[in-house]
Amino acid sequence: MPVESIRWDEDHATILDQTRLPHEERYLEIASPEAMFEAIQRLRVRGAPAIGVAAAFGLYLGVRDHRGTMEDLLRQVDEVAGMLARSRPTAVNLFWALDRMKGRARELAAADPAEPVQVREGLLEEALRMLEEDREVCQRIGLHGLRLLTPGMRILTHCNTGALATVGIGTALAPVFLAHERGIAVEVYADETRPLLQGARLTAWELQRAGIPVTLLCDGAAASLMARGGVDLVLVGADRVAANGDVANKVGTSGVALAAQAYGVPFYVASPLSTIDLGLATGQEIPIEERDGREVTEVGGVRIAPEGVRVHNPAFDVTPHRFITGIITERGIVHPPFEAALRELVR
Ligand code: MRU
Repeated sequence: MPVESIRWDEDHATILDQTRLPHEERYLEIASPEAMFEAIQRLRVRGAPAIGVAAAFGLYLGVRDHRGTMEDLLRQVDEVAGMLARSRPTAVNLFWALDRMKGRARELAAADPAEPVQVREGLLEEALRMLEEDREVCQRIGLHGLRLLTPGMRILTHCNTGALATVGIGTALAPVFLAHERGIAVEVYADETRPLLQGARLTAWELQRAGIPVTLLCDGAAASLMARGGVDLVLVGADRVAANGDVANKVGTSGVALAAQAYGVPFYVASPLSTIDLGLATGQEIPIEERDGREVTEVGGVRIAPEGVRVHNPAFDVTPHRFITGIITERGIVHPPFEAALRELVR
């Protein structure tokens, strides 16, 4: 059974607190939009698709006790959505999910203006629909990506794109899980992913748990592994894909892409359509989250850098589309030139 990153339990959301992995599997009850905001911002729940679903539940939690007029309710929907939207800026799934919830609220309000209760209940249904859809999307990405995998393949990945990052079997790791299920033996090299170590703490844990051979390496070791011919394929996820195919993903991804290009290793990005932002022409326009410098100066709460040193801590980077071999979506794999292919897919 894949691990469950987030679920709905009658009157609250339950998330697996990913900041505690791999040492402790602790589940948290999230019963307010403020608690969901904190969970997203602190990366207790993380990964682009998972934070989209989390935000949708957060929005519902913020309006479920509302008892005013329809006008008031719609105002509250917008306010809570605005608050949740400030949690993290890069993964477009967060904004995609909140926009979809706001749109649904307005649709239901227009259909029955005298029944705010229909809107409130409809928002929970919409969030649950997103959860179900993400499961299906992950499965489809897995099936399309599976076509790239052959027995014995050595796959390098960066960050965490498995069940923890979604509510299904993952994006970039979905083909790996399906290959394993079908008895196609593949192995994974997982970059540790500094500074927050999603590769070491989460990907290594998730793959080990599934019985998939995984080797952990420092981010700085990926290029030389490729130079030695040790990698057959790179598979990574995405937080936002611009119209021209530029991809924002966990910081360090663009270095992996450059090395892959230099050493002739195919570099594929797995991305649900909800991660594609056709409103941005290129990756230069993608907002990149800058996080607390202590994530770099400390490891596990222990200071490793001199006091007072300046820190540059972007959480993501942009891989230019020219380094990307293909983008795996739930509707198939697209190759360059990406612009027209992505527009066609989203249409
Ligand atoms: O900061 P995080 O851990 O939320 O970053 C996650 C990533 O960069 C993932 O690669 C991306 O969200 C794709 S997850 C299917």
